[in-house]
Amino acid sequence: MAFDYRNGVLCAEEAPLDDIARHFGTPCYVYSQRTISSAYGEFSQALAGHDARVCYSVKANSNLAILALLAKLGAGFDIVSGGELARVLAAGGEAAKTLFSGVGKSEAEVDFALSRGIGCINVESAPELERVAAIARRLGRRAPIALRVNPDIDARTHPYISTGLRETKFGVAYADAERLYREAAKKHELEIVGIGCHIGSLLNNAAPFVAAAERLGALVDRLQAAGIALRHIDVGGGIGIRYKDETPQSIGEFVRGALSALGRRRQQVIFDPGRSIVGNAGVLLTRVEYVKLGEARNFMVVDAAMNDLIRAPLYSAWHEVRTVKQTEASVEQAVYDVVGPVCESADFLAKERRLAAREGDLLAIMSAGAYGMVMSSNYNSRPRAAEVLVDGTASHLVRRREHVAELFALETIPA
Ligand code: LLP
Repeated sequence: MAFDYRNGVLCAEEAPLDDIARHFGTPCYVYSQRTISSAYGEFSQALAGHDARVCYSVKANSNLAILALLAKLGAGFDIVSGGELARVLAAGGEAAKTLFSGVGKSEAEVDFALSRGIGCINVESAPELERVAAIARRLGRRAPIALRVNPDIDARTHPYISTGLRETKFGVAYADAERLYREAAKKHELEIVGIGCHIGSLLNNAAPFVAAAERLGALVDRLQAAGIALRHIDVGGGIGIRYKDETPQSIGEFVRGALSALGRRRQQVIFDPGRSIVGNAGVLLTRVEYVKLGEARNFMVVDAAMNDLIRAPLYSAWHEVRTVKQTEASVEQAVYDVVGPVCESADFLAKERRLAAREGDLLAIMSAGAYGMVMSSNYNSRPRAAEVLVDGTASHLVRRREHVAELFALETIPA
């Protein structure tokens, strides 16, 4: 396990979290390199012998050190903005192994992606098809494209992260896809390379994921019969992880399910996982400021807040809370809400947890490697947390804490 107690202290790999807090301060995100590599390895193993690739979904955690690690392991990338592409390139990732998804790509972003030699633009609407073609024409290039198809499959996950149903904004309707492919095939400046889908995030069961792959496969065959040959099938991301007591099917089960649903087709199969690679590789380390006992509830007021990690209030997400020091017998347990200093009742990291900790103690908010730092903000003029990547006993600061002056450095007062 990446995060375990050694001599009574919670460690990231072999690095004690209390040392990390002393060195780098709190709040602080701490990631385990070994856990990221081993999750990536699970994909590689399940894909061995197949023409298949992992394109890590950058939005889950876009720290350059993590992107560089994954690039070195051979990953491609799934991005949703020009900013994410700039990160991939800065981290040493290859544009040619990168897919660009998202419903609202701007002209500048499409131009940037094509100029850098993006591997594929996942087009999500008819007007976007026109825009990409026009920009390619202007640049005198052919744009490699896929259509992101909405397979209309219920991912059975939280409505905010469910994306494969007809009523969501994502992708083109399954029934329209063939017609759009035919239109795209008429445009010389478009080079049709693939097809993609993503039905939602945090899937514990592989069945809807496999069903979506099957629907894509059927469409690929119809296109083939119509003379439109594709090179890849992108089955998306969305593989769940354990936050509490869920028992998600393994990465291997998802991958093998999709591969067997696609059978002997010749196309390369692409997976774009985010959470399943980094989610359980990170914790948010925070210090208790006050233990506030109340009439109706007790609060553990900590120095991390909803601006650092917003998943609990936004998705009713559950993150395990652990004390960094294994509880000493002298500290009494009680039930607490773990809350931050932000002025909102929605500012909580966890509710109703049995904990034994005192002022000054450290807590670790677990499973915070995905959609943690990337969704952070400066609300209440709070500088963003530091990020540390642990490799064995070594801890590397991979993003320093922001300074308060940086928060208003871009602002001016009119004369
Ligand atoms: N591919 C596409 C096109 C996506 O939209 C997403 C995630 C992924 C791949 C990666 O999905 P994953 O493997 O990480 O589940 N902020 C939410 C999750 C939003 C997911 C958005 N799309 C959360 O904290 O749960």
